Amino acid sequence: MSSLPALLLVDDDEEIRGQMKWALAGDYHVLEASDRPTALAQVKQAMPGLMLLDLGLPPDVEGASEGLAILRGALQINPLTKIIIITGNSDRSKAIAAIQSGAYDFIEKPVQLDVVKVVLQRAQYLANLERENRTLSQQAGQSEFEGLVGSCEPMQAVFHVIRRVAPSDVPVLITGENGTGKELVARAIHRQSQRKDAAFVAINCSAIPDTLIESELFGHEKGAFTGAAQQRKGRIEHAQGGTLFLDEIGDIPLPLQVKLLRFLQDHEIQRLGGKDSIVVDTRVIAATNVDLQSAIRGGRFREDLYYRLCVVTIPVPPLGERQADIPLLARAFLLRCVDEQKKSIAGFTSEAMAALIDHPWPGNVRELENRVKRAVVMAEGRYITPSHLELSSAGGMEGEAVTLRGQRENREKDVVRLAMEKTNGNISRAAAELGISRPTLYQLLDRYGLKKPKQEG
Ligand SMILES: Nc1ncnc2c1ncn2[C@@H]1O[C@H](COP(=O)(O)OP(=O)(O)OP(=O)(O)O)[C@@H](O)[C@H]1O
Ligand SMILES: [Mg+2]
Repeated sequence: MSSLPALLLVDDDEEIRGQMKWALAGDYHVLEASDRPTALAQVKQAMPGLMLLDLGLPPDVEGASEGLAILRGALQINPLTKIIIITGNSDRSKAIAAIQSGAYDFIEKPVQLDVVKVVLQRAQYLANLERENRTLSQQAGQSEFEGLVGSCEPMQAVFHVIRRVAPSDVPVLITGENGTGKELVARAIHRQSQRKDAAFVAINCSAIPDTLIESELFGHEKGAFTGAAQQRKGRIEHAQGGTLFLDEIGDIPLPLQVKLLRFLQDHEIQRLGGKDSIVVDTRVIAATNVDLQSAIRGGRFREDLYYRLCVVTIPVPPLGERQADIPLLARAFLLRCVDEQKKSIAGFTSEAMAALIDHPWPGNVRELENRVKRAVVMAEGRYITPSHLELSSAGGMEGEAVTLRGQRENREKDVVRLAMEKTNGNISRAAAELGISRPTLYQLLDRYGLKKPKQEG
């Protein structure tokens, strides 16, 4: 079998097929078909990644019905096939119909072979990208631990500590900026522990007014204060046998810190207005996004409570320190959203991925998750672009083109730019790389306002 990528040519005109085959056989393993049954049989048999398809085929030479039927049939067999439509230049509506049915691109007659080559090259590039995306998502399966995605060294270290501390009952303090995944880490510890079948009870100490937090944590007896019409168990009691997660522990009022410390020492509580001591067996995990050391120095946090809580400390690194995980995380969120919203998005363009990696992410993983979610809502095509993410493209590619032609030109420009970058601006090598003549490359550089090297190397 040929190691070249397979390309299926579907055209009823033998002469055109001959010309195309002659021009493309050096780069592709070219297959041919002149009608629907042959074309679909070839798709089934050889699974070509690329197809050039003339829409006007017998019995509907003037219309597009036969071509569109091949298009749909082929995508049903292999949804990843990149199908490029060949249309007459007055057939804009047919081209649009084809794109709506899932064609990758269209080329107008009379066909210019260098345009065909660039479009095919770009399609092949995207096909590779899809394959990489799939590999990434498979890797995501391996580098996911209890809902935490991460394969970089700092996250692997976090997973390692979680596994080590989970079986014991020691308190754990999780530190890190907003949105880094502290709550997920707490839940992972719980799920890896013997307590996993009992409750995981979370309380966000910063979200509850100071006046209510005591009764929220410790519960109260009937009549303990005005409005306490019923006896009520607190969150600590609800976590009996399980795990209590004290989120934003730095915001807990000082008087309550004393009471909490006593509970951590004795494993006993008294409800507000109650006299009996209740023994509670729960594991305590706390989280904070403030520097507790400086809160101690500022007199806002008790040192003795701090030392009780921080027997094991897990610092969760900000997303900016684990750039290598951004593609994995983005991909995981994409899959999740695509599933929820029933959209058929194949992945991120390379520009979008580059923009994601370059963004500083002050809101950390939560911000990344929200961006991807919004992009999935906004996206119409098969790929998420920098503009869907509302991030400027790292490569400086302009905003999205609205027209089909504009979209194609964007891709063309991109391929040309990549070739120039790859060859360090060497026109001869870039032209060879693109499979076009040097004059054509000069024209393309002009058309897209790309920099021309001063001297040819
Ligand atoms: N490593 C990760 N893998 C997958 N999803 C993650 C990861 N880290 C965080 N998330 C997701 O990001 C969001 C924020 O995570 P989480 O609530 O755990 O962060 P946090 O540190 O507790 O944030 P805050 O300080 O704002 O409360 C959640 O939707 C969570 O599912
Ligand atoms: Mg949190």
